[in-house]
Amino acid sequence: MRISVRVNGETHEADCWEGESLLFVLREKLGFPGSKNACEQGECGSCSVLLDGTLVCACLVLGAQADGRDVTTVEGLADGERLHRVQEAFVEAGAVQCGFCTPGLVVATVDLLGRTPQPSEDEIREALSGNLCRCTGYAKIFDAVRLAARA
Ligand code: FES
Ligand code: FES
Repeated sequence: MRISVRVNGETHEADCWEGESLLFVLREKLGFPGSKNACEQGECGSCSVLLDGTLVCACLVLGAQADGRDVTTVEGLADGERLHRVQEAFVEAGAVQCGFCTPGLVVATVDLLGRTPQPSEDEIREALSGNLCRCTGYAKIFDAVRLAARA
């Protein structure tokens, strides 16, 4: 089937098989490799995107389900050369090691701060509980979220 999906403000069309995930369509058909494919089972959050403003795991959404809808990926957060404040905070706090989890964590943090500009510690932990990081031990990631909330 042919789908039309608005990604980061621009409309894109793609031919896709009905069983293909939105993550596959974004990465392999539309040229948005920012969302990472780590588990493909909804366990790690590395593929997090906003679908019509709602945080989802792109590996659990069919490409066909995104037809006619609006997707924001990590590539859509910066304003030209200027990083989003959440991206800046991750850099500043040193919250990135291998970086594989980072796009998903950044998108999840943008979602959190959009809903709750001054989150409590519990709210931060709850919001990022679906995003796994194998490297950092999370302390610097939580620092980055606090920093972004203050920015
Ligand atoms: S790749 Fe989607 S949750 Fe892990
Ligand atoms: S920085 Fe490597 S998985 Fe998080």
